[in-house]
Amino acid sequence: ITFSVCALSAAEWPDVADLPERTEFPPALEMFDGTSVTTIKEWEENRKPELKELFQQYMYGYMPAAPAEINFEVQPEFSLLEGKARGFEVIINYAVDKGGETLPPLNLLVILPTNSDKPVPLFLGMNFCGNHTLLPNKEISLTNNWVYDSCGGVDHQAVEGSRGSQFNDWGIDTIINRGYGFAAFHSADLAPDVDDFSNGVHPYFFKEGQTSPDPHDWGTLAAWAWGAHRAVDYLVTHPQVRKEQIAIIGHSRLGKTALLAAAFDDRIALSIPHQAGCGGTAPNRESVGESVAIINRAFPHWFNNTFPLFSDDVNRLPFDQHELITLMAPRPVLVSNAVEDKWADPDGQFRMLQLAAPVYDLYQVEGLLDQQQPELGRLSNGRLGYYIRSGNHSMTRGDWLVFLDYADKYFGKQPAM
Ligand code: GCU
Repeated sequence: ITFSVCALSAAEWPDVADLPERTEFPPALEMFDGTSVTTIKEWEENRKPELKELFQQYMYGYMPAAPAEINFEVQPEFSLLEGKARGFEVIINYAVDKGGETLPPLNLLVILPTNSDKPVPLFLGMNFCGNHTLLPNKEISLTNNWVYDSCGGVDHQAVEGSRGSQFNDWGIDTIINRGYGFAAFHSADLAPDVDDFSNGVHPYFFKEGQTSPDPHDWGTLAAWAWGAHRAVDYLVTHPQVRKEQIAIIGHSRLGKTALLAAAFDDRIALSIPHQAGCGGTAPNRESVGESVAIINRAFPHWFNNTFPLFSDDVNRLPFDQHELITLMAPRPVLVSNAVEDKWADPDGQFRMLQLAAPVYDLYQVEGLLDQQQPELGRLSNGRLGYYIRSGNHSMTRGDWLVFLDYADKYFGKQPAM
């Protein structure tokens, strides 16, 4: 296997100090060298790959190609939600080309409605605390991997008592009742959320003798997003999953991941970066709340080792976050927010949608139909969706009703359970 993803090599892009300063948001339909992009063909063949390069080079780091060897160990099925759903786990194993070394597996939980054998649309959700926190059922394995302090474990290890503790954040019963399937994995299956690259998937991709990431190597957000791609590798093979209707969702740091994963994988039909903020859906320039400098200090491992060079020099970034959104075009993306979550800059996130709109216009699809931010609690119209509700930084059952309404617009309303 080779792990280089792109035709251009990292060496071809300028050093950060040599990048031009631009105080304005860079136009999405303009190449790095200033050439205008006027057709879908030019967008898809030139600008879209260029933006993917730029985001990897200067911010998230280069994601390895899909592993050549991947296998799915499907575990026995069990009944869930009073028989309305069936669940099973899939142990996803993959090997790297270093004497076939096997990476730590990813444990994907899949939940499908039982009322029909027909393929259903499906939400893939990444979680912070382990799949066992989503539902109380004992058949779901307790994660062996690192968990946050807030997950109620002991020394970053999960405990039995945390089963089902996140049930109300996800509302899987609602998802199933609305005729959708659901799949989930725990982000720490790829990498724990710590500034330490000695565990998780990263060390498997180090070159001989390498012990820490090089300046353009992938950070933790990219590893989580890459894990989502591996989950999709399985999901597209399942006969009861409509493979052209796989949506991805994550909250906050996993919202940043949900956008990154979908931006880099066209198999993902719709993305909901929920309260993603800085490093995801909020602008780097003109930041309100969390800034590039702050995020690089607090969470340096989320990005590559080049991104900190922009902390005091944000105007040298050759892109801004609206361009991560444009990589979704013409697919739907819902940017959702809470009014008290100023840290994530809800107004700045609407601005990012406005600046992404020209690419949706190029495809002649309804991108951003509301020129103003919608009032609290109302979902905006168009594929560049925006939603802001009252309250704070959290994911709630109420949010899920909006996410499902949004998905229904593009996937069709499903027969209810
Ligand atoms: C911190 C961080 C944010 C992040 C959030 C979360 O607040 O600064 O960037 O989105 O954590 O993941 O909850």
